[in-house]
Amino acid sequence: MKKLAIDGGKPLRPKGFPERFPYDKRELNIVTNIMKLSIKTGIPFRYNDKYSKIYEKKFIKFMNGGFCNLVNSGTNALLASIASLKLKEKSDILVPCLTDVGCVTPIVILGFKPIPVDISQKNFNVSLDEIKKKITKNTSAVIVAHIGGEVTDIDKISKYLKSRKIKLIEDCSQSHGAMFKKKKVGTFGDISFFSTMSSKLHTTGGTGGVIFSKYKNLIHNSKLFSDRGKYFKNSKFTGKYISTGLNLTIDELSSAIGTIQLDKLSSTIKKTNSIGEYLKKKLINIKSPSKITGQYKNTFNVYWFLRITLNLTKIKVSKKKYCEALKKEGLNLSEKYIYNPFYQKWIAKNRSKKQFKFPNYDESLKKNYVIFIRENYKKKDVEDIIKIIKKIDNEFKK
Ligand SMILES: Cc1ncc(COP(=O)(O)O)c(C=O)c1O
Repeated sequence: MKKLAIDGGKPLRPKGFPERFPYDKRELNIVTNIMKLSIKTGIPFRYNDKYSKIYEKKFIKFMNGGFCNLVNSGTNALLASIASLKLKEKSDILVPCLTDVGCVTPIVILGFKPIPVDISQKNFNVSLDEIKKKITKNTSAVIVAHIGGEVTDIDKISKYLKSRKIKLIEDCSQSHGAMFKKKKVGTFGDISFFSTMSSKLHTTGGTGGVIFSKYKNLIHNSKLFSDRGKYFKNSKFTGKYISTGLNLTIDELSSAIGTIQLDKLSSTIKKTNSIGEYLKKKLINIKSPSKITGQYKNTFNVYWFLRITLNLTKIKVSKKKYCEALKKEGLNLSEKYIYNPFYQKWIAKNRSKKQFKFPNYDESLKKNYVIFIRENYKKKDVEDIIKIIKKIDNEFKK
């Protein structure tokens, strides 16, 4: 048997795995052409212009209809989404405890109260049962995220919230193109948002965000908020500012990058989905203590990362040691996916401790780890992931 890398043996992948790299000549050309034209004409490129309009159209096509607003980050997309809903002042907004901090700060800044919802026992997402536990008569909206590109029980959640007249904001930042019953995530909520920062499945460059809705008035409201309340008629600024707002707009360079990226998105999600599904089956075949479980039926998951559940009763070592051994062989992983904004001191200040207990989240950290997969992986990369897991299992499986 080959000596493990953690014990000084040769790693199976000494150079690790390829990282995501989103750009090629197409992005280079489009950005260069904008700059060249700007220099030639003496007119600086701005925002809300040719490429923003093309990007909007393409994004709407990708979502099979609807309306959208481009902004400069996922966090700001949520800010403008909340503002667009005209919720009752000082009401409560429910938000997953496992998410980016950018899901909570906009709630606080707009004067609402963020109420954390624990994740389900099955996966990294909030479920209807956990949401129900936190709803009160002061709840005006619920944010639901599809973490790691895994779709939550969104159909059920959306129907229930509708019946209670509570707004649903879908966070699709990690789940571009994922589907429930062949319907894209982002179409279940009243309004939804996507982060398009550089690590996401499609990007507008360093940072960016998109707001999407089936409802024209919500996108209209969000546009007013994200562009200083400027009032446009037939795409022309009227000189009037009709409501309060910030400047969250995204520039033409970023939008242009986004237009190219959207052309690649369908192929990207096909690849991450097929790599994820293949690995899920393989882990069962090799009877590994590492498994992907707890997914909902009828979901098309895009695996921004793989959430792996480790059966702790089937290994001879700690999860920490098992994961360290995988890492030393070259696997790109994180032993704990620690993203809980409610464990930050500033947010817990002056709030009851009872509200900030997350048994499922805490339990999940003990048994789950995540593997980062990339759409540019070749067949050998995928097979090597399995080889590494097999190598570690051989040594550490009970
Ligand atoms: C689930 C989730 N929501 C919101 C955000 C915030 O997006 P941004 O970083 O673009 O502001 C992120 C960022 O990674 C995220 O992963």
